[in-house]
Amino acid sequence: MKIAILGGTGNEGFGLGYRWAAAGHEIIIGSRKTEKGEGAAVDMKAKLPEGKISGTNNLAATQQAELVVLSVPYWAQEGTLESVKEALAGKLLITVVAPTGEKAARVHRLESGLSAAEEAQNQLAGITRVVAAFQNIGAHHLLDLEHQLDCDVLVCGDKKADKQVAMQLCQDAGLNGVNAGSLQNARAVEEMTAVLIAINIIHKKKSAGIRITGLSAEG
Ligand SMILES: NC(=O)c1ccc[n+]([C@@H]2O[C@H](COP(=O)([O-])OP(=O)(O)OC[C@H]3O[C@@H](n4cnc5c(N)ncnc54)[C@H](OP(=O)(O)O)[C@@H]3O)[C@@H](O)[C@H]2O)c1
Repeated sequence: MKIAILGGTGNEGFGLGYRWAAAGHEIIIGSRKTEKGEGAAVDMKAKLPEGKISGTNNLAATQQAELVVLSVPYWAQEGTLESVKEALAGKLLITVVAPTGEKAARVHRLESGLSAAEEAQNQLAGITRVVAAFQNIGAHHLLDLEHQLDCDVLVCGDKKADKQVAMQLCQDAGLNGVNAGSLQNARAVEEMTAVLIAINIIHKKKSAGIRITGLSAEG
């Protein structure tokens, strides 16, 4: 697929993009600044010369893509989406945004009472659909393709077909996607990120993750 990553210059979007490029997807790194997006693409291409990778600004990236991934800090979500809104029409948006408060290791509840993913969906009502995924996947090991990521990805959304697209992208990134229900469930998934940050700090680790048990055939 042709995938735009808005904020793909940051660790999370860059790491996911790298894994998807290695799996054969075409990656367009989006940034507020065209040159910064281009620069990140040069860096990714240096790591993966055979990859189909380019960089530009967020709007051009959205216009060129079939699917768009939102990977900016929560406080930049609304403005970023506003800037690409029209170009998003009919293109599935996968958001990795996990809102954090002043203390990243403590659960931060949004004033709206919604998840960031639901807020994005409300903003994009009538334009496109939103799926939440990868909130609990730390960026730390994404650039090491040999590293087996020992965790599941909870995928939340209101349409099964959309979640299947996201779960395929989990697989392509070397991860196991688990259909975790409606977009509303992203509230718990986003909040779990703070818990994982706390666990990392307490145990002096960098990649605590979650694993869902009881889903195997024997289970
Ligand atoms: N890092 C992780 O381990 C991790 C794990 C799970 C989930 N997440 C989530 O993934 C998202 C991205 O994480 P990250 O660590 O990659 O974040 P980041 O490095 O702080 O930001 C990603 C990109 O967002 C853009 N950005 C930053 N501030 C902005 C602003 N005020 N307005 C508009 N754009 C802005 C920047 O791109 P340009 O300057 O190029 O525009 C930046 O490179 C976050 O929502 C985070 O909660 C991260």
